[in-house]
Amino acid sequence: MQANSPFSPAPAQVRIDLAERSYPILIGTGLLGNASTFQGLPAAAAALVVSNTTVAPLYAAQLSQALQAHYARVLLVTLPDGEAHKNWPTLQLIFDALLENVCDRKTVLFALGGGVVGDMAGFAAASYMRGVPFVQVPTTLLAQVDSSVGGKTAINHPLGKNMIGAFYQPQLVVCDLDALQTLPGRELSAGLAEIIKYGPIADMAFFGWLESNLDALLAKEPAALAYAIQRSCEIKAWVVSQDEREAGLRAVLNFGHTFGHAIESGLGYGQWLHGEGVGCGMVMAAHLSAQLGRVDAAFVQRLTRLIERAGLPVKAPVLSTANNAGRYMDLMRIDKKSEAGEIRFVVIDGPGKAAVCAAPDALVRGVIDLCCA
Ligand code: NAD
Ligand code: GLY
Repeated sequence: MQANSPFSPAPAQVRIDLAERSYPILIGTGLLGNASTFQGLPAAAAALVVSNTTVAPLYAAQLSQALQAHYARVLLVTLPDGEAHKNWPTLQLIFDALLENVCDRKTVLFALGGGVVGDMAGFAAASYMRGVPFVQVPTTLLAQVDSSVGGKTAINHPLGKNMIGAFYQPQLVVCDLDALQTLPGRELSAGLAEIIKYGPIADMAFFGWLESNLDALLAKEPAALAYAIQRSCEIKAWVVSQDEREAGLRAVLNFGHTFGHAIESGLGYGQWLHGEGVGCGMVMAAHLSAQLGRVDAAFVQRLTRLIERAGLPVKAPVLSTANNAGRYMDLMRIDKKSEAGEIRFVVIDGPGKAAVCAAPDALVRGVIDLCCA
């Protein structure tokens, strides 16, 4: 895994290596409105841009114009915005648009938006006529460093996050740094959570770089953003190329997510952002790692400090006044990593290395009590 010079302004390309399902991730400026970005995609009569009520007014016209060089018909479906809409009725709107416009099985879907749009458009692409090509055009930092890459697509169920979905790889990922300039600060911080994640699980040198360059990232300096996105995508590309369908290794990308998903579903989707749940979840998982003797208190403090500096919550919310730890445990049992009702956690097994393991209930409850206090 080679990183480019930290401040190279040149557009970068990271490749996801998956034999016949391989594809490039483009990272640069001026990409989404440029017809040449989309050269070489499968030929089709129609393209459907899937976006939402916030992103479509900002970027759909630019993208559609670029796509008109390649497709006779460029259609748009605009979904309601927000995690609370990542569900069956919203997914149905994509199928409605495809069928009402008599879209055939060559139609290419373009997901224009954050992770919610990307996950839903990807799932629609995986299932419409048993699979049509799709392209990710992520417009949040979180989507550029994580959700648009690696082919996980899903919708939520009221009982559990991302519980219904498919593995389905895009043909291309286009990370246009310009789009991040309109991103609200809270969403930028949410994206930083997934970037920070890559340090403790895989690359402490990158973690050190983040400590030194966090202010530049918070100020949306393009060179810093470009490097952080590229390095994150390189790490994710490496993990996904080893374990596309999460038979083992890929689970490390879920560091902080077991606690984080419990927070998201326990509070009701959309109360805390996904990245906020992951940020706080990483603090909780770091405490658990320390309780299990895998890292020391100094590491927990160092990670907590960076997460806090990124503008993310580090104190966990109380989900039940009657039995808070019990509520967390119940929610965490509904997790794709659980086996026979046993919760499995991603822990840090020494800085820069992650492992997946079960933990004694009493220890986990202790961590929840500590982090909610
Ligand atoms: P999001 O998609 O809800 O986007 C955040 C907000 O920013 C939304 O209101 C959106 O409309 C707005 N927005 C998007 N781009 C914008 C822009 N350029 N300017 C202004 N506003 C903009 O949230 P997210 O953080 O991007 O993604 C979170 C979702 O991603 C969760 O559902 C999570 O489960 C999923 N996810 C999936 C994977 C995966 O591997 N598939 C990985 C991580 C997260
Ligand atoms: N975001 C976790 C994964 O892609 O596996």
